[in-house]
Amino acid sequence: MSAFIVLGSQWGDEGKGKMTDYLAKDVDVVVRFQGGNNAGHTVRVGDKEYKLHIIPSGILYKDKVNVIGNGVVLDPEALFQEIDYLEKAGVDIQPDNLMISDRAQLIMPYHKILDGIKERSRGKKDIGTTGKGIGPCYTDKMERSGIRVCDLINQDVFKENLKENLKIKNDIITKVYGENALDFDSIYDQYIEYRKKLAPYVKDISVEVYNSIKSNKKVLFEGAQGTLLDIDYGTYPYVTSSSTIAGGVCIGAGIGPTLITGAIGVAKAYTTRVGKGPFPTELFDDTGGWIRKSGREYGVTTGRARRCGWLDLVILKTSSRVSGLTNFAITKIDTLGGLEKVKVCTGYKFNGKIIDYVPASLQDLAKCEPVYEEFDGWDKDIENAKTYDELPENAKIYLNKIEEFTNTKISIVSVGPGREQTINLNNM
Ligand code: GDP
Ligand code: IMO
Ligand code: MG
Repeated sequence: MSAFIVLGSQWGDEGKGKMTDYLAKDVDVVVRFQGGNNAGHTVRVGDKEYKLHIIPSGILYKDKVNVIGNGVVLDPEALFQEIDYLEKAGVDIQPDNLMISDRAQLIMPYHKILDGIKERSRGKKDIGTTGKGIGPCYTDKMERSGIRVCDLINQDVFKENLKENLKIKNDIITKVYGENALDFDSIYDQYIEYRKKLAPYVKDISVEVYNSIKSNKKVLFEGAQGTLLDIDYGTYPYVTSSSTIAGGVCIGAGIGPTLITGAIGVAKAYTTRVGKGPFPTELFDDTGGWIRKSGREYGVTTGRARRCGWLDLVILKTSSRVSGLTNFAITKIDTLGGLEKVKVCTGYKFNGKIIDYVPASLQDLAKCEPVYEEFDGWDKDIENAKTYDELPENAKIYLNKIEEFTNTKISIVSVGPGREQTINLNNM
């Protein structure tokens, strides 16, 4: 029995797409359990690069079942655009290799509009969201007014739900924010079209995933975003609106915690963040720019330049704790190659003491001063390393520090974007 989780351990974009694709070769089912098309997961196969936002990264194999769980917020427009994009690239998508939860919440046009309006109204305190309607959709879910996939499948229920929702949303859009109301008929017609196309993929995915695990199939759960974007354990309010940590799997795929067999945290060899919010080890100097250039740190979903900084082991330790990580996959170790010295943060100086956890209060976090340990760098050309032994000695010392500090085994080291640029240390 195997039910294994891949999670982001920092602020997203750690290489979860690459790791999921790599690990998916040996599994039967790949499941997205939270987030939506705010995610941008890159998978490189040979000389082809695929950018996935909502469809699980197992889709590039012919024989895997890919599941969009109930914890996901689903924008049907984005889904069908992605299906078109993949089909044009030669990837076949059918109800036997893609399943969508009947309980997933639908992102509606007003969610996207409200995402933009709310960001603008926050002014300088904007979160820097992806603008995909994620926050407003999860707000409706928790407020119990959301429209689920099964509610769209029942046309009468959908009509009623849309009427009720649109009345309230239009009041907010026009009366609170002074913007134009949305038209019922055009949204209704558009979603009834989606309904037809969506219906064949819709299943009770908790039943499907449970049965897969119980019949000894291997299931891989693909996280989106990362620990510090988690709604509870991230740098609130500069977070996304879902549970990005291991606990999110149980809720977002309808699976009990006793079935989970392990969790690998994906972490870059340095740190990046897109959007606003605190980032203790951020580099504002030439080294930050050097890392951005070397790692091509630009967002997959929004194209924004990613903020770059040193590796923060306090964050990795936090990730390991809150998700009970069994392993780490360290990516982009090649990106740092060529730097004479590299630093890692091993604690925050806070009120005269050294702490090794991320405080809840942003005001406290702002007072935290990173404590660094400096290491000698390694050579540029490590992207062809095939075994751990082939890695430069200084890179190994760096990796040892990560293991020792987080008390979590590193099982995979990634030295480039390709599938083959992956060093597997423990037969993962
Ligand atoms: P995700 O959101 O966690 O799936 O990560 P993204 O796809 O947003 O960003 C990771 C980027 O790094 C992508 O462009 C990947 O192709 C690339 N990548 C992944 N692993 C490595 C690696 O080990 N080395 C290098 N140079 N690039 C990598
Ligand atoms: P993957 O899965 C990096 C960030 C946004 C913003 C905050 C809230 O590719 O790692 P949202 O639109 O979710 O309400 O935005 O979260 N964010 C991500 N940053 N990678 C992601 O996904 C992200 N998804 C959301 O930039 O700061
Ligand atoms: Mg990404």
